[in-house]
Amino acid sequence: MRVKFLHISDLHFSFSYDKGDERFCRMMKKMTSPLEQVKKLFDDVEKDFDFVCVTGDICEYGTVEEYRFIHDWLEAYFGCKVIGVSGNHENRKAFIQGFLGKEKCDPLYEEHSINGFRIICFDSSDENANDGLITADSCNLLRKSLEEKDIPTIVLTHHHLISSQFDMPVAQYGDEFREIIRNSNILAVLNGHTHHSYEGNFEGKPYYTAGSLSFVCECINNELNCYEHASAQRFVYDNGILSKTIYEEKNDPHFIDRFSI
Ligand SMILES: [Fe+2]
Ligand SMILES: [Fe+2]
Repeated sequence: MRVKFLHISDLHFSFSYDKGDERFCRMMKKMTSPLEQVKKLFDDVEKDFDFVCVTGDICEYGTVEEYRFIHDWLEAYFGCKVIGVSGNHENRKAFIQGFLGKEKCDPLYEEHSINGFRIICFDSSDENANDGLITADSCNLLRKSLEEKDIPTIVLTHHHLISSQFDMPVAQYGDEFREIIRNSNILAVLNGHTHHSYEGNFEGKPYYTAGSLSFVCECINNELNCYEHASAQRFVYDNGILSKTIYEEKNDPHFIDRFSI
């Protein structure tokens, strides 16, 4: 089996950037559209992916129309199925309706099968826990799915899971989640949220965080300095091996805005 897919994250797309934190809205109004960032990276790349996965913060507290628009835009641009998980900047109800095309998805958990390759969309977002929360109910669903060990499988979350990878708090999870991952046959865990790409190992499994298609922030003397950012990663699964290539804009960081925190 050979499967080729693209991992993107954190587009924070909006038609107008008028919802949420006022300072972030001001910054995002000044940044290049995430759609332009996608085009900068991929206009000259052969788009022969079997699917594209987006690990959350797809919209900035989007409306149903915004989620529908970005989903359809990405599918038309890449010419393949686009799969997504919810992030902490999502409007969950609108995400479910506009991006997933469902009236309800409770609990928020999906499995997709593409050419015999399985993608598990595992929800790490919680409306009362900005840094992410992995619940016992989600763990039960994951445990059941991963009892089937013969299907090549990746697990998508939004939040990062390794505390040393970045200075934002990781999602809250317990030993049960660790044990499920450790005892599974999954190929990798993929996520976003930090806006910085990272490669590591979580409970013995390959682990990849994608950079963003919007901005990165750096804290200097209690001020947040924000820069444009365009990063994505391509994976190829071939003969049982998963390999990765990063696509990244190589220009100097383009400053957008600065504000106190
Ligand atoms: Fe984000
Ligand atoms: Fe996030």
